[in-house]
Amino acid sequence: MSDLSFDGKVAIVTGAGAGLGRAYAHLLASRGAKVVVNDLGGGRHGDGSSAKAADTVVEEIKANGGTAVADYNSVVDGDKIVQTALDNFGRIDILINNAGILRDKSFARISDQDWDLVHAVHLKGSFKTTQAAFPVMKKQGFGRIIMTASNSGLYGNFGQANYSAAKMGLIGLAKTVAIEGFKNNVFCNIIVPTAASRLTEDILPPDIFEALKPEYIAPVVAYLCHDLCNENGSIIEAAAGWAGKCTIFRANGSLLRSSATDNVTVEKVHENWLKITDLTSSSSLGSIQEATGALIQSLENLGNTQGTSSQETTGQNSEEN
Ligand code: NAI
Repeated sequence: MSDLSFDGKVAIVTGAGAGLGRAYAHLLASRGAKVVVNDLGGGRHGDGSSAKAADTVVEEIKANGGTAVADYNSVVDGDKIVQTALDNFGRIDILINNAGILRDKSFARISDQDWDLVHAVHLKGSFKTTQAAFPVMKKQGFGRIIMTASNSGLYGNFGQANYSAAKMGLIGLAKTVAIEGFKNNVFCNIIVPTAASRLTEDILPPDIFEALKPEYIAPVVAYLCHDLCNENGSIIEAAAGWAGKCTIFRANGSLLRSSATDNVTVEKVHENWLKITDLTSSSSLGSIQEATGALIQSLENLGNTQGTSSQETTGQNSEEN
């Protein structure tokens, strides 16, 4: 198969001074993209700042014959990062929201600062950068956006309640951006990586740390950013040279009333608990419309179709822009 090129594309990679972001920036630049290498250059807990991280990666890309500029803003000022792309390259095709920090504490010990900083970098940073790039992409009729989540968000992880919450928030953000960008060919997907980096050096066992090169994940992220990729609103997990799509499954469940006038009681929930939680014939749902389909079906089964036309249940949004 011929090489998939990124010639003529402009990419922003946040937190590209190290780890996964550095690998993404290198791969995209090696395939022709002009890259904004953003990195605040601070510590892993969100302390300090330095130009060195971004500068080093820009020098490496240029030494390999690629095109890149450094940007040292925090993602919290994402609009400034987008401006760097526009000032230098005049457009933005790809945005990889990757910058991240950790402030791990057991749940009871999380301070307001631990919570706020982690949410600021991961969730607000991705919001600010994406919101600034989004209208540019929509106007161009092309855009590929990546949000970076984590297994910590999908499944929880001891000592990471602040991080888990922010990472799961990014999934909600990405899914709605995917819906709102779709008609303008602006797609948004979520990567769930596991890689050796300074964020994981004391979390992952040393023997598997070696096998988890960021370079094994970068091609998956790059593909999600290519014109040929029509994936949108999906969660893709990648690690150690493996990749797979993740989704949420819902049980077939159980109808807890037998007529429109019947009540739901705690006893009926108790009696039906095995059916409510039985996932053997569960299904994966692709949209809020599919999810609320079961609600409408239940009401139809009860001979009552009232109350199903609210904005939330139909997913119709009156505000188009
Ligand atoms: P890393 O620490 O090697 O790289 C993160 C980069 O983000 C650093 O260079 C840092 O200076 C930069 N950064 C931090 N705060 C910033 C800010 N406010 N503005 C701009 N840049 C900032 O970490 P790694 O492992 O490469 O992580 C990349 C992303 O992947 C993060 O979002 C992380 O949460 C996520 N992730 C990583 C996993 C792993 O196994 N390494 C697992 C799951 C998620």
